[in-house]
Amino acid sequence: WWDHVKPAPKDPIIGVTEAFLADTNPNKINLGVGAYRDNEGKPVVLQCIRYADSKIAGCEFLESNATEVGSKLVEESVKLAYGKHAHLLKDGRVAGLQALSGTSACRLFAELQRRFYPESPIYLPDFTWSNHHNIWRDAQVPERSFRYYHPISKRLNFAALMDDVENAPDGSFFLFHPCAHNPTGVDPTEEQWREISNKFKVKNHFPFFDMAYQGFASGDLDVDALPIRIFLEDGHLIGCAQSFAKNMVLHGHRVGCLSVLCDDVKQAVAVKSQLQQIARTTYSNPPVHGISLVSTILSDPQTKVLWFKEVKVMANRIKQMRITLRETLEKLGGPVSWEHITNQVGMFCFSGLTPDEIDRLVREFHVYITPDGRMSMAGVNTSNVNYLANALHEVTRY
Ligand code: LMR
Repeated sequence: WWDHVKPAPKDPIIGVTEAFLADTNPNKINLGVGAYRDNEGKPVVLQCIRYADSKIAGCEFLESNATEVGSKLVEESVKLAYGKHAHLLKDGRVAGLQALSGTSACRLFAELQRRFYPESPIYLPDFTWSNHHNIWRDAQVPERSFRYYHPISKRLNFAALMDDVENAPDGSFFLFHPCAHNPTGVDPTEEQWREISNKFKVKNHFPFFDMAYQGFASGDLDVDALPIRIFLEDGHLIGCAQSFAKNMVLHGHRVGCLSVLCDDVKQAVAVKSQLQQIARTTYSNPPVHGISLVSTILSDPQTKVLWFKEVKVMANRIKQMRITLRETLEKLGGPVSWEHITNQVGMFCFSGLTPDEIDRLVREFHVYITPDGRMSMAGVNTSNVNYLANALHEVTRY
């Protein structure tokens, strides 16, 4: 039956974790997956999670399915992303559904897009999270790219981005990372977001935001949601994928939300029912424990404040590691500028290393980064930063 099946290519991010785990060298460092680690290199259980866990203490087992706890999650997630525009949910204009982290939120949207706009491609930034390509491909949505990152300056190629937005056919779907762009760590400024939003009005494009790292760019969850709020202010309809995997360090629980803002109640009811149908045939409902944890934190003002503080602590630790890594590299000298380590924001540094340099990092120094040169700064700590700087210096010094 299965002789004709060839192995699928390894996922570039999961493949790095597998190679790291198989390496027995004691100096090995995993800068592959975008998952928060503390200064000891350990995954963190946030205080707000411990508190929420004790508060729910098994109550979720009384729920027969995720519907009730899911609507609470949607309500609170929409508040977190939309800010003062969250009334749009109460107005009945938002089709929202709990999702299995950002991945299934994106996939649900991609399926919706194929069902109702089968001819329309998705415009993805060049570069983007590797799994975006897979998600829209598997949903059979054609892919286009728009220019985003400028490899020489290691900054945003704003003029090219605006040209590509202008030149796309009117009414196209575009995917944006509202903050902490994955993998480049390069975000538009507030002024640039306003210009993009204005151009979207003229072109009648549909913006889909994948917000997987809210809080990690600025350390402030509200500031990081600003691009979404600018688009809402300007009266756009939007789609928004949210993930709590990173900012609540809940990777294993797969908690996320998809919201699609519609023109009116009738549209929102119809869109939500389609999303529910898509979810029903794939995983029916997500497990409730993670959803209960997140909803408990978001709906209790004190715990929410605690969470905001804990996100700031995580974001600041990463920022500090950027500074230390850059300073250490600059002290070592060498021909390469390391300015981008501190110019870029969020969890990732897009190193600009060549494939050969990446290969040497792995083989000679046991430092694991993704094949596109992305380093997860969350894996850097005070114990390994000197070793890492030395490794980067050695592979780039000639
Ligand atoms: C990443 O980019 O490393 C994260 O979004 C985790 C993942 O699932 O890829």
